[in-house]
Amino acid sequence: MADKKARLTVDGLEEAIELPVYSGTEGPDVIDVRPLTGQGLFTYDPGFVSTAACESKLTYIDGGNGVLLHGGYPIEQLAQNADYLEVCYLLLNGELPTAEQKETFVNTVTNHTMVHEQMSHFFNGFRRDAHPMAIMCGVVGALSAFYHDSLDINDPHHREVCAYRLIAKMPTIAAMCYKYSIGQPFIFPRNEMSYAENFLHMMFSTPCGEYKVSPTLAKAMDKIFILHADHEQNASTSTVRLAGSSGANPFACIAAGIAALWGPAHGGANEAVLVMLNEIGDEERIPEFIQRAKDPNDPFRLMGFGHRVYRNFDPRAKVMAQTAQEVLEELGIENDPLLKIAKRLEQIALEDEYFVERKLYPNVDFYSGIILKAIGIPTNMFTVIFALARTIGWISHWNEFHSSPNKIGRPRQLYTGPKQRDYPAK
Ligand code: SDX
Repeated sequence: MADKKARLTVDGLEEAIELPVYSGTEGPDVIDVRPLTGQGLFTYDPGFVSTAACESKLTYIDGGNGVLLHGGYPIEQLAQNADYLEVCYLLLNGELPTAEQKETFVNTVTNHTMVHEQMSHFFNGFRRDAHPMAIMCGVVGALSAFYHDSLDINDPHHREVCAYRLIAKMPTIAAMCYKYSIGQPFIFPRNEMSYAENFLHMMFSTPCGEYKVSPTLAKAMDKIFILHADHEQNASTSTVRLAGSSGANPFACIAAGIAALWGPAHGGANEAVLVMLNEIGDEERIPEFIQRAKDPNDPFRLMGFGHRVYRNFDPRAKVMAQTAQEVLEELGIENDPLLKIAKRLEQIALEDEYFVERKLYPNVDFYSGIILKAIGIPTNMFTVIFALARTIGWISHWNEFHSSPNKIGRPRQLYTGPKQRDYPAK
């Protein structure tokens, strides 16, 4: 129920329009603008900068104070104390699991990690040099061709089975994308391994030899999964919700999310950060790139900087920066030249008036690529890993959408095209 009102006066309308105002548990109040349609008016908000598209209980972001909460828990505490599957349970169920609930959840996920053997033939249609995100989009969308027993979106049990399947199979499919691109055979998951350990095993083991997974790298991988798990109504999650609103099956909706994530302004930024750092190549060239980033006529942007919501540090970037240092020290490459360029770039940007004025801080993508590169993951797999980790966010929002009465999403527009006219007589 609305606890406040907004009154809108519009030139040409005799009376002010009264609009309900709702308050959440955190964050800005929202004005319910639905009555405007009855007055022949739409709101106008390209890029949805000021639009609350839905109600959600999953994740809260305070961009001004650099706060990110999942189920009320700060991301820093989750990254420090939980593991990724605990965060998956939290996002799906709204509470952290008890020890018993966690054991059941982990066992269920572990026993769904294989994909249908027919799936492996699907890869053969791709060129070996296909971008792994292109393969990911196709293979995940194709999952709906295999799992007919969990496509009833109105059945909570079907939705739960889909969630388990997607959480469990994304690492397997991601590793298959990598193996296919380097011409190595697919490696089966191992049930005795933890989620992150299993992923690194499937990425780097071969039939000729077991890849010994370093506990530090497995922990860093798990932390990267946690930091990318969910982020409110970002572009790819909004895509999944909109696709879900048409009644599309969950696998098709997640494939739509993967496609949206791929863009360099969104999840593709982690790959673009590494490309940029390599292009800079030397600390001496940083001023040249800073100048380009500030030039309104140059499309170049400092990848890994800025955020639609965070007008302060992205709390994930802080955790990521610390993890990068730990991983590089563990690997004895703390003097990694790219890390040095990244640190110098961050320092210069944070002192430069252009970035300070626009509140452009390093975001989650700025350091993640450095960690992934240090682990040995190729740059073109970075966004695939983002998609792997974000799958829980996508499917949790999709599930939340279908858990209450809903309708198809259908935005309107400000039409500025030609007025009605007749087809010219022949
Ligand atoms: C992710 O939404 C999410 O939650 C996304 C995400 C998630 O977890 O789902 O957090 C993941 O996508 C992180 C962002 C990764 N993208 C990048 O790192 C790409 C580089 N960043 C920019 O493309 C940009 O900052 C965006 C897209 C992230 C945000 O763009 P906005 O909010 O639309 O901001 P804007 O384009 O209106 O920029 C405001 C000003 C502009 O200058 P003016 O027109 O005021 O002069 O800041 C400038 C922009 O030109 N600007 C930059 C810049 N980012 C913004 N200038 C140089 N380099 C940049 N990176």
